[in-house]
Amino acid sequence: MAVLLTILTDPRDPTPRRTLALPPNTSILKSAHAASIEITATCGGRGRCTSCRVKFVAGTIPPPTIMDEIQLGNDLVREGYRLSCQCVPSEAVTVQVAPPLEERAFQILGAGPGVVGMGRVTLDSGIRKQVVKVSLPREEHHQISDLEQLAAALGVTPTDVGLAVLQGLPAALRDDPAGVTVTTFAPPGGRGSERVVAVERGDTAGMKFGLAVDIGTTSVVSTLIELDSGEQLASVSSLNPQAVFGGDLMSRIAFAQFDPGNLRKLHTRIIGLLNRHIEEACRQSGVLAKWIYKVVVVGNTCMHHVLLGIDPSYVGLAPYAPVMRHPLTLAARELFLKVNPEARVCLLPIVAGFVGADAVAVALATRMDDSPDIRVAVDIGTNGEVLLGSREHLWACSAPAGPALEGAQIRHGMRAALGAIDRVAIENGDLVLHTIGDAAAQGICGSGLIDAIAVLLDAGAIDWTGLIDLDHADRLPLPLRSRMMKRGDERAVILARPGESGAGQEIVLTQDDVRQVQLCKGAIASGAAMLQRIAGVPDDKVAELMLAGGFGNYLSIRSALRIGLIPALPEPRIRYVGNAALLGAQLALLSEIERDRAERIARGIEHVSLAAHPDFQDVFVDCMNFPRA
Ligand code: FES
Repeated sequence: MAVLLTILTDPRDPTPRRTLALPPNTSILKSAHAASIEITATCGGRGRCTSCRVKFVAGTIPPPTIMDEIQLGNDLVREGYRLSCQCVPSEAVTVQVAPPLEERAFQILGAGPGVVGMGRVTLDSGIRKQVVKVSLPREEHHQISDLEQLAAALGVTPTDVGLAVLQGLPAALRDDPAGVTVTTFAPPGGRGSERVVAVERGDTAGMKFGLAVDIGTTSVVSTLIELDSGEQLASVSSLNPQAVFGGDLMSRIAFAQFDPGNLRKLHTRIIGLLNRHIEEACRQSGVLAKWIYKVVVVGNTCMHHVLLGIDPSYVGLAPYAPVMRHPLTLAARELFLKVNPEARVCLLPIVAGFVGADAVAVALATRMDDSPDIRVAVDIGTNGEVLLGSREHLWACSAPAGPALEGAQIRHGMRAALGAIDRVAIENGDLVLHTIGDAAAQGICGSGLIDAIAVLLDAGAIDWTGLIDLDHADRLPLPLRSRMMKRGDERAVILARPGESGAGQEIVLTQDDVRQVQLCKGAIASGAAMLQRIAGVPDDKVAELMLAGGFGNYLSIRSALRIGLIPALPEPRIRYVGNAALLGAQLALLSEIERDRAERIARGIEHVSLAAHPDFQDVFVDCMNFPRA
């Protein structure tokens, strides 16, 4: 029999209290999602994170599951917290959804200086505007259409006219005696016919804008750009709202797998977000959305498929085949994007199931395809990618770091938001913490985790295998030693006691947290090591290591080297390149030659499937360990 479940949602929600009939054997998370109540499920409901936690405020609290105890710890379990994905109440209860993290303060790497700063880029977006005076049809006997009159005024017969243009044509031609502005899009090199994108009354020739979008697993960034000058007018970034249904790609694919309803949820969430970005970018810049005539989108293969409403199920199953790899151009109205309805939405090509258009955009932006020297680009993210090569040849592989560096699956992990510990050092024998915004410490984010492990390795508190080394703690300075502990079977280091750095509760780094970071850094480091091995490129032949992505710019290169997250190159040969995927999208937006180049790059990249390689297991295990001091 169904039991009544009352959910108190976030206070910002317009319907803060919802009561549902919970079917037998159904988890709180599952029935909340079925009723469109937002509960974040970063691990996709597998009991491997804490994002879906709820607090019981009325009714009998069910006994904790083993996953409750592991993920939440004894204190939270005692306070009545449970993982909603694991919890199946058998009588009427009321639960409070744990308030989401403060999104306003998230560090999402935005647009950077953009294409204008790159030089040597020919700006030719393919969008042209022309003001013409069109004579209206007059003859009744030898009839001629509005479109034919327009063609006569243009001097060419357009072969491809969008439906929305035809729908608006009679009014546009008759509304303004001064003439109309015709906007066309023509890919270079005669790849397709010239398409009429808009016919607007009056002279709007000076209004020509485009949008470059990078859809990441965790965050989404959009920039609004003036197409003739390349000037960035606005930049908007947000967390990817699909993360509620799974923090990493495999959880997201599992959610969508073979269930069209779930795929539709993911699809509508990303379209809704892009429309909010468009609205916000237009508000910031004063540009009208109808003047946005071209949009370029990059993202990994799963994000690409979901944006198009394509089932990504088979991307998650061996042999991980994408549904399509070629570049695609379609009309904005087909995706319900609220820019000009006939605006060209261009998706860059894909290399493989787990090496997407974002990797192609990174190669384009970093000019790896033009480099005489061998360079490596590491795009650090939930679904990371590694590229290696030069103009001779490019290799790429995926490096699924997972969401640990985003704070998921870490006891006191959080995203890089206000109050997150983002820097850790040791001074006078004790830990010194820095928090984002100098706010009271709430938890620890990825850059803080990497720093913490690096300094604890240096101090000898963690050994090269990743073990929190309690047996030799007597060698540590007293303040640090007093932070090392074993509770039950669990080893941990207390990063902040209540009151330290304003922490309201103890913040610890557990043995399991260290293992999660090892898995994550093992994925990235083994990706780079395998590509180097396959390409026969030792460290001393790598001219440059580029750290890209939304996360890359916030971590300390020294700490990343110390924990072995990246190849052991001298620091001067390592540099941040910012959000290179977004920069690649901007290049393709502003230059059809660059968009063509992206296609050539994608065709030339050799995808390396690491799991299938006989050396991979050994390399991965090796990369899980920390470099010895
Ligand atoms: S533990 Fe429930 S969604 Fe991750």
